[in-house]
Amino acid sequence: MNYHSSKARIPYLLLALLSFGWGSTFAQTASLITNIDHRATTSLNGKWKIIVDPYETGFYSYRMVEDPNGFFKDRKPKDATELVEYNFDTSDELYVPSDWNSQREDLKLYEGTIWYKKAFDYTKKAATNRVFVHFGAVNYDAHVYLNGKKIGHHVGGFTPFNMEVTDLLQEKGNFIVVKADDKRLKEAVPTPNTDWWNYGGITRDVKLVEVPATFVEDYTVQLAKGSLNKLDVWVKTNGTSPQPVTVSIPEAKVKLTGTPDASGMVKLSSNAKLKLWSPESPKLYKVQITSGSEKVEDEIGFRSIETKGADILLNKKPVLLKGICIHEEMPTRGARAYSMEDAQTLLGWAKELGCNYVRLAHYPHNENMTRLADKMGLMVWSEIPVYWTVDWANPATLANAKQQLTEMITRDKNKASVVLWSMANETPLSDSRLSFLKSQIETARQLDNTRLITAALEVHNATENTMMIDDPLGQYLDVLGCNEYIGWYSRKIEDCDKITWQTTYDKPLIISETGADCVAGMHGEATARFTEEFQDNFYQHQLAMIKRIPFLRGVTPWILADFRSPRRPLPSIQDYWNRKGLISDRGERKKAFYTLQKFYADWKLK
Ligand code: GCU
Repeated sequence: MNYHSSKARIPYLLLALLSFGWGSTFAQTASLITNIDHRATTSLNGKWKIIVDPYETGFYSYRMVEDPNGFFKDRKPKDATELVEYNFDTSDELYVPSDWNSQREDLKLYEGTIWYKKAFDYTKKAATNRVFVHFGAVNYDAHVYLNGKKIGHHVGGFTPFNMEVTDLLQEKGNFIVVKADDKRLKEAVPTPNTDWWNYGGITRDVKLVEVPATFVEDYTVQLAKGSLNKLDVWVKTNGTSPQPVTVSIPEAKVKLTGTPDASGMVKLSSNAKLKLWSPESPKLYKVQITSGSEKVEDEIGFRSIETKGADILLNKKPVLLKGICIHEEMPTRGARAYSMEDAQTLLGWAKELGCNYVRLAHYPHNENMTRLADKMGLMVWSEIPVYWTVDWANPATLANAKQQLTEMITRDKNKASVVLWSMANETPLSDSRLSFLKSQIETARQLDNTRLITAALEVHNATENTMMIDDPLGQYLDVLGCNEYIGWYSRKIEDCDKITWQTTYDKPLIISETGADCVAGMHGEATARFTEEFQDNFYQHQLAMIKRIPFLRGVTPWILADFRSPRRPLPSIQDYWNRKGLISDRGERKKAFYTLQKFYADWKLK
């Protein structure tokens, strides 16, 4: 087959160099523009044309070399003699944002590449302005093109990214193409083996962001670590002619001004008398950042979060974290959650339980969740999917984990609700795992020295009646997390009554997971698995044990709602759902929901 005329050969070499330089391991994106919700944006949400491409025919030639004339060119045959074997315009459509699995029965278990295309016109508000395209997330690997030209590549399914399109944008007839590929890979973060559905696609909002030639790209406005009245502020501008920057909090009579340095960075600080954010009083201040003609507004809460021995201190006072784990899934839709309405449902259920805290498992959730948690007064544990058996010795895996961690912290570092960054979930002990996670902890502390660092550990040393938390990672954490399922995956429920917990660290403990499956409406003896009585009995004994742990300061039972999992096939009981939810996939509260609700109503710090 003569696929390649000589004239096409050069682009292959050029493209091969580019594609190597733009290695599939590292993101090729612009620095993240934060606080997207309060910027001048144009939504690209809605119906996109799609082409399902399991063999990546639109990306590779038959020799598996990147094709410079792939589907992203959106080619049309000049006449009946020309061969073009794809056509977006006559192809199907999918909604953006949303995973593809829940939109079409034949895509429910599809894993691989789907091409998305959206046509749009765009007129800039000012000729000198710049325009970026911003994605809330694409799971998992995204190559992005505008008007047939590559604008970037991002790897990671749950964090935002943006690419500049200023020079390629035209007033009429633009088309953006995304190659979204959610193949599970050994070197990926997460790894191929996860207990959640691999929802693929453009799962969150897509927006065009228009900014001045030199604009406010990112900023931190937070209380300095350990202080209740000293503000640490920095603002990063992007562009060649930075203007003086002013950061003001009118209600607190704060107004700080400074001139960015050559790198566009300006650091400011000031004392301030602020009403502190807390779950009981989630006070948010309007913060205004101006630079030249640009004004960026945000709503930011101010609080301190620290530990002292086994205590967690919120605004210098010991606090109990009464929480619940949440997956980013709307159980009643069996789909990725993404909207503010979804966030209101999920966090509303947590509030109904009496929570003041949530663990957003096992990856960064969409920004609606952390924005709403700020407003509702829910503290948040946020994590990237370094989950189970990550490819610890692979530098590319560490680089991607670091990139996802950086994107998570960059996006949410001004959210008062976020109090914990978690580095990992149930990761097996090894030297390579320890060095990988120590590196991640260093990155997290460099990016944000104000929040607490944790991880969901496991018990590795236990006797008949003593659980010992002595994971070597614990020495680098501020707060110990520990997942345990005594009475479900091991032992008997009643063993909880005689088990005590110990640790080699003088640090607070959060039981970051505990739970048991049950089918809503299935009743029987408390010894019969999958009945509501079994799950309720599990909670009764587990909560009594947890309450007795002297260094325990929080718990997030697994999990708020039943969720889809390819690992749970048991017919007529699981049907590819993990049934540990306290709420079923039909929104029904199970008996244990009320047991936990009563426990939280009564549970007080000693
Ligand atoms: C683990 C894991 C969860 C999983 C849960 C379960 O602790 O962290 O992702 O869903 O157990 O087995 O239900």
